[in-house]
Amino acid sequence: MNPSRGPPSQRSRNRAARPGGSADAAQRHEGAGATDSTPFLLPERVHGGNGPRGPCYDTWAMLAVDARDLVKTFRSGWFRRRQTQALRGATLAVPRGAIFGLLGPNGAGKTTLLSILATLLLPDGGSATVLGHDVVREPFAIRRRLNMASGNASFVWSLRPAEVLTFYGRLYGMGGKVLRDRVDELIARCELGPHRRTEYNELSTGLKQRLAFAKALINDPEVLFLDEPTLGLDPDVSIRIRAQIAELRRDRGTTIILTTHYMREAEELCDTIAFIKAGRILAQGSADELKRQIRIGEVIELRLDPAAPERLGELPGVLQLQVKGERVECTVDTAEKRLPEILRWLHERAVLVRDCQVREPELEEVFVELAR
Ligand SMILES: Nc1ncnc2c1ncn2[C@@H]1O[C@H](COP(=O)(O)OP(=O)(O)OP(=O)(O)O)[C@@H](O)[C@H]1O
Ligand SMILES: [Mg+2]
Repeated sequence: MNPSRGPPSQRSRNRAARPGGSADAAQRHEGAGATDSTPFLLPERVHGGNGPRGPCYDTWAMLAVDARDLVKTFRSGWFRRRQTQALRGATLAVPRGAIFGLLGPNGAGKTTLLSILATLLLPDGGSATVLGHDVVREPFAIRRRLNMASGNASFVWSLRPAEVLTFYGRLYGMGGKVLRDRVDELIARCELGPHRRTEYNELSTGLKQRLAFAKALINDPEVLFLDEPTLGLDPDVSIRIRAQIAELRRDRGTTIILTTHYMREAEELCDTIAFIKAGRILAQGSADELKRQIRIGEVIELRLDPAAPERLGELPGVLQLQVKGERVECTVDTAEKRLPEILRWLHERAVLVRDCQVREPELEEVFVELAR
């Protein structure tokens, strides 16, 4: 890779080094289906500018993805026609150079949304631009600048990893030494070296997943869609894939939009997380902002002597009280306000506080609350 390329704010991407060719074919062929200090706009600010479309031009130009009110309905079944409304007005703004997480329960519309943004599916309504180009009217302008890896990708069963990568490289117009070097680099980067000559159908799930990730990097995309990138990977490999995702953004300025069911992954990697449910984005923000927005409370953990005094759960601001042996978990609206009140109340009753800890809700708890 070209180390001269820096974060998005400092560089113009090296288009001369970009492969040309039939990237559209490469995209279609796939089937439909952070920690650094780069500053990012919050979605409110992105959409809060002037002009009839919302943001002013400068802000709009900073968006890698700008999707408004996307609607998609699947129609299936020959005899009994069925309709599934996968997206019911999904709106999303992703700044360039961000790692953006899309979380939501099974069937929420995550893969559908990514597929529309990656120009693999057509929406029924709404609009979306990727790198400033409309995904419906100008797919050819963006296909070679993006790529997508799916958690359950499938490639031709008899091809070996190096052949799969070479095949996709050719679809992007690459060839000769440039392509050979790129394939070697990706094989090494995704730790596929020992399996270079193993046929695709003989690879384990995790190795297939790594190959899908490597394939998604073949054209050095500016926008990378990762649909459950660590699905089925062992913890050790997951950590390394996550490190690579963070590195791609840091070193290449790649905008990454990923879906995951692993909350720790989202929290570790993503600057912004959007929760989608039943085809609509319900909430969006950093992990900390979401925890505050959803207001499922903070937990004050106490070790008391004597344990669990009566009526503690009736104090103002106490949302829930759980006694776990000699520990008491007190869920309160705001720990900052309620902790002194609780400690004073316990002191007045001569209850000894042996230990006291405040913890924020986990992202998982926010997810469960939103998915309800
Ligand atoms: N090709 C299709 N034909 C019919 N229905 C579909 C098709 N693809 C998706 N759906 C339906 O659209 C809805 C959204 O599916 P989608 O795959 O986008 O969800 P998801 O959020 O990615 O779920 P998961 O977390 O399980 O991957 C689901 O109800 C699904 O059954
Ligand atoms: Mg999915």
